[in-house]
Amino acid sequence: MRKSVIAGNWKMHMNCAETKSYLCDFLPLIKDIPNDRKIVIAPPFTAISTFSSFSNSDYLHIASQNIHWEKQGAFTAEISPRMLIEHNVKYAIVGHSEPRKYFSESDEQINRRAVFAQSSGLTPIVCVGETLEQRERGEADRVITRQVEQGLENTDPSNLIVAYEPIWAIGTGKTCEASDANKICALIRKLIGFNDVIIQYGGSVKPNNIDEIMSMSDIDGVLVGGASLDPISFSRIANYK
Ligand code: 13P
Repeated sequence: MRKSVIAGNWKMHMNCAETKSYLCDFLPLIKDIPNDRKIVIAPPFTAISTFSSFSNSDYLHIASQNIHWEKQGAFTAEISPRMLIEHNVKYAIVGHSEPRKYFSESDEQINRRAVFAQSSGLTPIVCVGETLEQRERGEADRVITRQVEQGLENTDPSNLIVAYEPIWAIGTGKTCEASDANKICALIRKLIGFNDVIIQYGGSVKPNNIDEIMSMSDIDGVLVGGASLDPISFSRIANYK
């Protein structure tokens, strides 16, 4: 039985004071969360230490928003697993469409990040997804196949989360039809060839669509941007039916 993973990606939001105030509101709302799911939040790096000291790691886990493939060295603005593990970080988002788009992250770099995260004891959350133009040209399956094959090479599927995030659905309020998202998630599972791999959907997940999304057979969780910034709406998502 796959445990679902409900993750919030705070992106470039929340300072330490806001993080503390969020957790005061959020923790009581998720303390009775059913045992069939895990809740994860990826705060910005500067808030991770505050998050870790005010949170409860029994039912709320921490992710980083990036991770480098070297232990240490001359890599300005990057972060290594050992710097994160010290703060109780358990997951690392890699390959999000924003660094792919703004910083030209390649599948090869994403792969190196994912492999090193795993060998350092972290679980990578590897994001894949097509643009609107690619979808309209009927290329979604081909793009996802390439991202999965190159981005996940030599990774261990038993310590992996893949997030299917169609780029056109991120921050736009346009959710992918749950049944369409489910088809792509099934394709990803087939490509990986490991039935127990955790596959999330991301892109305009909100309290009003979470129950339908989570009812899909191949969707094992969600990666939430905007709606994770509000403790009430993210707690409703975490408490999906
Ligand atoms: P939204 O939920 O704001 O569409 O963002 C999705 C996302 O990019 C999560 O990583």
